[in-house]
Amino acid sequence: MLEARDLTVRYGGTAVLDRVSLTLPEGPYGLGLIGESGSGKTTLARCLLGLLPPTRGTVLFDGADIGRMRRQRPFRRAVQIVVQDTEGALDPRMRVGTAIAEVLRAHRMVPRGTERERVVGLLADVGLSAEHATRYPHQLSGGQRQRVAIARALAVRPRFLVLDEPTSALDTTVQARILRLLGGLRAEHRLSCLLVSHDLLVVEQFCRHVAVLRHGRIVEEGLLADVLRNPRHPATRRLRDAVPRLPS
Ligand SMILES: Nc1ncnc2c1ncn2[C@@H]1O[C@H](COP(=O)(O)OP(=O)(O)OP(=O)(O)O)[C@@H](O)[C@H]1O
Ligand SMILES: [Mg+2]
Repeated sequence: MLEARDLTVRYGGTAVLDRVSLTLPEGPYGLGLIGESGSGKTTLARCLLGLLPPTRGTVLFDGADIGRMRRQRPFRRAVQIVVQDTEGALDPRMRVGTAIAEVLRAHRMVPRGTERERVVGLLADVGLSAEHATRYPHQLSGGQRQRVAIARALAVRPRFLVLDEPTSALDTTVQARILRLLGGLRAEHRLSCLLVSHDLLVVEQFCRHVAVLRHGRIVEEGLLADVLRNPRHPATRRLRDAVPRLPS
């Protein structure tokens, strides 16, 4: 499992994260992390990936402190991230097939010379064809680029996926399709996912559990249905009431 324990991140005098604890259990699991802009969601995601060392607290991977682990490779492989598509997540000078093959080689995922075959398989998993492997990122739509980013994350057979606003650059139809795809992949690969979003509608489609971040603190956590029905914190109520709904 992946666990944040008492994480604090300070920039200058301000705590951007304040004693945050969070657990992602193994297996097909979805935890939504919501909070308004600037509440610390991406900061927490980066800590969980080991990209940002916290000022205090620890991130535990299978019970081991990632800051003290001697062999980083299994952790680096097990936890992957997919971020909002801003055209910058993929190298613009590299054909997408080459980009995925490079990841396969770096982590020695398949026997030498069989990378191409695996790339085609991974693209198929996310609903793309072999032909897409020959394209550059700018020759794909935003939704297709996001599929490539997911394929690249899956290439190393991760156990945990951190999804930081993975669909917020897409229109709602494409967004729903990508979420459905991720839902299917999560079950199939028994992936545990942390879905970062400021949009409760997105979280509702994907997660049973939710944590609410506010000014760097988790102010509410639990089953999404309970939290929506009976929000205890005004910040949660605001996020809930910001969701447009059809009158019942
Ligand atoms: N490197 C940094 N130096 C100083 N302050 C930072 C740094 N990185 C983030 N912050 C601040 O930390 C706070 C939390 O940022 P973060 O990116 O985690 O928010 P977020 O919840 O992901 O917001 P959004 O929904 O807009 O993506 C913000 O006030 C931001 O300005
Ligand atoms: Mg963010």
